[in-house]
Amino acid sequence: LLRSASQLLRRSRRDYSSAAAASQPERKVAILGAAGGIGQPLALLMKLNPLVSSLSLYDIAGTPGVAADVSHINSPALVKGFVGEEQLGEALEGSDIVIIPAGVPRKPGMTRDDLFNINAGIVKGLCTAISKYCPNALINMISNPVNSTVPIAAEVFKKAGTYDEKKLFGVTMLDVVRAKTFYAGKANVPVTEVNVPVVGGHAGITILPLFSQATPASNALSHEDIKALTKRTQDGGTEVVEAKAGKGSATLSMAYAGAVFADACLKGLNGVPDVVECSFVQSTVTELPFFASKVRLGKNGVEEVLGLGQLSDFEKEGLENLKGELKSSIEKGIQFAHAN
Ligand code: NAI
Repeated sequence: LLRSASQLLRRSRRDYSSAAAASQPERKVAILGAAGGIGQPLALLMKLNPLVSSLSLYDIAGTPGVAADVSHINSPALVKGFVGEEQLGEALEGSDIVIIPAGVPRKPGMTRDDLFNINAGIVKGLCTAISKYCPNALINMISNPVNSTVPIAAEVFKKAGTYDEKKLFGVTMLDVVRAKTFYAGKANVPVTEVNVPVVGGHAGITILPLFSQATPASNALSHEDIKALTKRTQDGGTEVVEAKAGKGSATLSMAYAGAVFADACLKGLNGVPDVVECSFVQSTVTELPFFASKVRLGKNGVEEVLGLGQLSDFEKEGLENLKGELKSSIEKGIQFAHAN
């Protein structure tokens, strides 16, 4: 993604529209919550993505300004802003990917679950519209608590008769981004070469980075180092919430992570082989109905949910410890969808 963005910037005096149209399929991406802290930088990054031909920016307020601003960037994506529920259908129609960062973020002292009451309703409403206007789109769910909002989305789609488990993704990419950064710093390896799978869910101890599988491998790290890296990855969101002191949670790093994940989805849709990223999806990897693990992306969304691979004893223990909380967050989402 960064390479594509910098190519675009370097070649900024050229006209891309014909080149882009000739080499790849038209792709429409919609961002719901596009005027928010995540939505705005995510809109910017998606505008820079050469795989996007149409970018639809929706929010309950503020999108005309964001859309006008982003639309002046001389990259191929045609940008349109939509505001208010009466414009939601048009915003969604024809979308290949819908990215959802709509909802309230955390403040210091709050867990992701504290956001449940507000965000669950927002996600339910948006997914109802998606099932009507773009039932075949891939959904990238960013709104927290992801461990519950993904099951809510699944129930809404099931009720509407449009559920396809291959098309629903909880975005856990920020956990991967953090694990890579923290590991590279501690193991003293080049950050751009690092890969670390992160499995489980997206809240506290349900976030399980598998540093035993990190590449490039490092034998410079002690067990204490691995424990500290694991805790820092799990608490990465809280680190940002506290540093922002009441002004919200991660937005810039989340926008980057969301853009990387959406780019992977676009590549999969376009038939690029071997696109593998971690995501919280419907799963049989464990006994839980949803679980984050490596996923191979393809023309229909999820092509294959990959297993966990070899775990260290510390990771096996982490896996057992996270199941209770993850199970109850999933059930809470399902219950909400049925009760409301
Ligand atoms: P924000 O408050 O800055 O922006 C949220 C936007 O959603 C606002 O512009 C608001 O108008 C909009 N919105 C509210 N109701 C809406 C509706 N019904 N339809 C469309 N838009 C609506 O919040 P921020 O910082 O952008 O965070 C958004 C969400 O992302 C939060 O739930 C946060 O917890 C989550 N998040 C998820 C992460 C992840 O790793 N998955 C990381 C960081 C945040």
